[in-house]
Amino acid sequence: MRDEQVIAPLLLDWYDRHARVLPWRVPPGGAAPDPYRVWLSEIMLQQTTVAAVREYFLRFIAFWPTVQALAAADDAQVMGEWAGLGYYARARNLLACARVVARAGSFPKTRAGLQELPGIGPYTAAAIAAIAYDQPETVVDGNVERVVARLFAVTQPMPASKPHLRNLAATLTPQTRPGDFAQAMMDLGATICTPRSPACGICPLIDDCDARAQGIAADLPRRAPKPEKPTRTGIAWVGFDGAAVLVERRPDKGLLGGTLAFPSTGWDGSDLPPPAAADWRQLGEVRHVFTHFNLILTVMAAPIAGQPHRGNPLPLHDLRRSDLPGLMRKVWDMARDEAER
Ligand code: ADE
Repeated sequence: MRDEQVIAPLLLDWYDRHARVLPWRVPPGGAAPDPYRVWLSEIMLQQTTVAAVREYFLRFIAFWPTVQALAAADDAQVMGEWAGLGYYARARNLLACARVVARAGSFPKTRAGLQELPGIGPYTAAAIAAIAYDQPETVVDGNVERVVARLFAVTQPMPASKPHLRNLAATLTPQTRPGDFAQAMMDLGATICTPRSPACGICPLIDDCDARAQGIAADLPRRAPKPEKPTRTGIAWVGFDGAAVLVERRPDKGLLGGTLAFPSTGWDGSDLPPPAAADWRQLGEVRHVFTHFNLILTVMAAPIAGQPHRGNPLPLHDLRRSDLPGLMRKVWDMARDEAER
């Protein structure tokens, strides 16, 4: 039987030498990190990769270096800077959270306090408490689940094994340097204990890994087969009104909530009307993958005359592609040449 207490020192020793350099991080064992930067990075990293977040994080920090600055920011500018990161409810919660924290003067220092804030669930609360305040919280993301499943050779498939993996992970969390330990687990999962071909030969935990001993590391964690994603269809209308294009702000609640959009049908089969009577011409289809379904949008374009009954004309020189979420960028890329016709 392995002693769980040997894992943390081995991993921390590895982290001291191999920690990834990330813009929101302080070097291992160094000064305390800025909770604002830790919080901002954790919100951005929810469901997104480190590579995708890096540039966004640096831009946000340049625009809004403190939580007070972000709390005072213009909502539309924040949404515009967020565009492309996806999951727009997160950007709205980000602002709501910044405003609560700015009013309170600082972030709460415990997991329970953090979890009261908008946009902070159990995972993010544990991550911020551990990383920003060195609280002995157990931080379990997909990387950590994989590392733990392998260390303990858990063959039960995901997602049913999640509670068991969390309990096992908790047995590893040390009282000393829990923040560095949490980040070390993430780094090990991201760089060595990778999904397909783990680099066991250079792993600091090679002698303590049950899956390695059984020769099944690359096969774990097992997964129950996923139900196939449904495909939904809809129509997006790009209406040109002289040197302007019809756009609307999507409702705050729901998919791509609060983002700039071309008017479209609902994406759940609901049948919203076109924004204006016009001689709509079909340009083609764009495809987009959401968490729970695939979407195929038919793109229609036309010059419109008279008063639209949906959307507002936005002068073309005020439409920045970067203000649009990914799906609407695809629509715009297909339709933009129609403006010159
Ligand atoms: N994924 C989520 N949080 C992270 C962090 N702090 N460092 C690296 N990857 C992460």
